[in-house]
Amino acid sequence: MIVCHCTGISDHEIHAAIDWMRASDPETVITPGKVYRALGHRPDCGGCIPLFLSTMSANKSLEVPPRLREPLTEPKKGVSHER
Ligand code: FES
Repeated sequence: MIVCHCTGISDHEIHAAIDWMRASDPETVITPGKVYRALGHRPDCGGCIPLFLSTMSANKSLEVPPRLREPLTEPKKGVSHER
């Protein structure tokens, strides 16, 4: 099914791009912009964005990596990261 009529991107291409990005970098955060760029396009009218996002969210590889879901912690006192 064509998701973006301006660029001709299909749901299969979106899923393939997400799977490829996840396989290439398990910790990457996958955004619609990254999917467009991976497929060699950029959005034009933006009318497809709701369908584009729902297509993306149906892909299990879209999940944010567990390490990035942890809350940020304060650095321990006395430990300096500067040299
Ligand atoms: S339909 Fe996707 S940018 Fe226009």
